[in-house]
Parts: sequence; C-alpha cells; structure tokens
Amino acid sequence: MKKLWVDLDTGVDDAQALMLALADPNVEILGISCVHGNTPLENVLENTLRVLKVCERLNIPVHKGCGRPLLARKQHASDYHGKDGLGDVPDPDPPSLDLLNKKKAVQAMLKAVRNNPGEVILVATAPLTNLAVAVQLDPSFPKKLKSLFLMGGNVDSRGNTTICGEFNFVADPEAAYIVLDRYKCPTYIASWEFSCASSLPWSFCDKWLEQCTVKAKFMKKITEVSRNRAQSVDYEKESTAGKGFNSCDCYAMAAALDESLMLKNEEVAVSVELEGAHTRGMMVMDYMEQLKKKNKAFIMKEFDLEKFKVMLMNSLK
Ligand code: BDR
Repeated sequence: MKKLWVDLDTGVDDAQALMLALADPNVEILGISCVHGNTPLENVLENTLRVLKVCERLNIPVHKGCGRPLLARKQHASDYHGKDGLGDVPDPDPPSLDLLNKKKAVQAMLKAVRNNPGEVILVATAPLTNLAVAVQLDPSFPKKLKSLFLMGGNVDSRGNTTICGEFNFVADPEAAYIVLDRYKCPTYIASWEFSCASSLPWSFCDKWLEQCTVKAKFMKKITEVSRNRAQSVDYEKESTAGKGFNSCDCYAMAAALDESLMLKNEEVAVSVELEGAHTRGMMVMDYMEQLKKKNKAFIMKEFDLEKFKVMLMNSLK
C-alpha cells in the first residue's frame, strides 16, 4: 500500500488530482492539508470536503493550513476555476466545516510522516506555504519523506500568472524557494509548460465526462467554467497555454501513483528567483551548475498519455 499525504488548494484540477488518488485501491491517503491558492482558504476547505463527499471518503482527515503566503506583498487570487474555486456550482447541502480535523495542517503532516518514516509520498499541487512552514518547524522532515511530487514552476520562463511565473510559485515565491532548497528527498516536478505540452484532446475530455456516474456528473458541473475559458484561449497569443484539456495538477498526482508514467525526466538543480520585477517566482534551471547544489530535481519531460487517460477514466467510475 502506498502512503500519501496530499497538499491542496482545491480548485478544479486539484479536485481531479485528488479523485485520481481516491480511486487507486493501492493507496492510503493519510491526510490532506489545505492551503490558500486557487481560492481563499475557507473555500479550499469546503471544496475538499465536497470532493470527499462525492467520493464517499469523508473519513480521510482534512486539515486547515496556511491562509496566506509567507511574505504577503501581493496576494495572487485566481478565479480561473470560478470564484469559489470549484466552478461556482454550489452544493445545496455542503458538508459542514465541523468535519475538519481539529489538528493544524502542518503539525498533522509532520506527525503522519514521523509515524511512517521513509514511507510517505508527499504530493503538493498548490502554493508551497505549508511545506515551507513544515521544514522550518522540523528541518529533518524532508529526510523522512519517501519522495515529493510537485505541480509548479516553469522551465522555459513562460508564465501563466506573471510574464515568467507559474501560479503556485508566484503565489508564494519564498515558500517555493525554501522547498526547492531544503527538500533533499527525491523531488519530481510537473512544470506549467510540461502540463501544456502534455494536454489531452478535448474529445477525450468529453468521453471522460460523459460517463454515467455520480463522480462524472459532479466533474462535468464543476469543470464548465474553466473548460469554457480554456477553449476560448487564443493560442496564437498565448502560445504557452496548451491546445487541449490540461489538468495540470493531475500530472504530479498521476506520477506519484504510478512512476512508470514518467517516460522521460531531466535531472537539474532548481531554485526560484525572488527579486526581479518580472521574474519573481520564476523557476531557475541551473543547467550550468553554478548554484553548486548537490540535490537535483527530476523535471518531467515526457508522459505516458495513454496510461494517463486510463487512470483519469477510472477515477470517475
Ligand atoms: C496551477 O495553478 C492553479 O491554477 C492550478 O490548480 C495549478 O495548481 C497551475 O499553474
């Protein structure tokens, strides 16, 4: 059984990623930590519970994490997935926030990993504030992880939030810097450009959502806003956007669930630019090895899209 801890800012693609993990019979989700990002933290908490409710897995502990970035010079709220982060199709009978676990997210994550040393795979598809706080509280935390899978950063300095910045890194650049600097466990990164290049045909998305199940009906409803947006992108202008269905967070999660999906990775030392007016939050790829870092990250380059599609289909059955 694989042991997972999941760190989310539950927007639509986080929900999709979480549902991949929930559908895997060989995975135990030890807990979910929520963080600011796609939508304010209160929405993230409710959205996460809504996903668990649809999947009948409200037994998984959900914890409240950081509601703000480490240095809140500017909060990058995104309404890409709708104002509530989940397509603005509210549940008339939403799960109560009383269902949240009372333990704070970072403490809960530290404890789960302490109790399962060397076994926990941490999947983070959100701004990295919770992870940065965790390593500040316990510097030995990363060493106790089996591995870390992230969705974030960019490899060709093409942003989706600022000119050069991908949303999760730009939303908390200091946290991203700390994580890339201090998490020396095997670290796998699904960058923005990688997800764009690996996007799936819209015809697949239709088939995926047309499945006659409660989960597919839920997914169809919550994806409408972001799908309409994605389909109205002018690819000539937004050359980075990726022509198709791009569920960015799912690449990090799918790779954590089945490493064989990663057909090609590149090993590079990485960091985050903190200063530049246009480049703050951009991932720095140290091909010249000037940073003299011993630990390198695995940057995803090529994915087994056929296997990925099967995994996505199964997640809504
Ligand atoms: C990332 O930002 C969010 O909008 C998505 O959930 C994903 O984690 C993509 O840049």
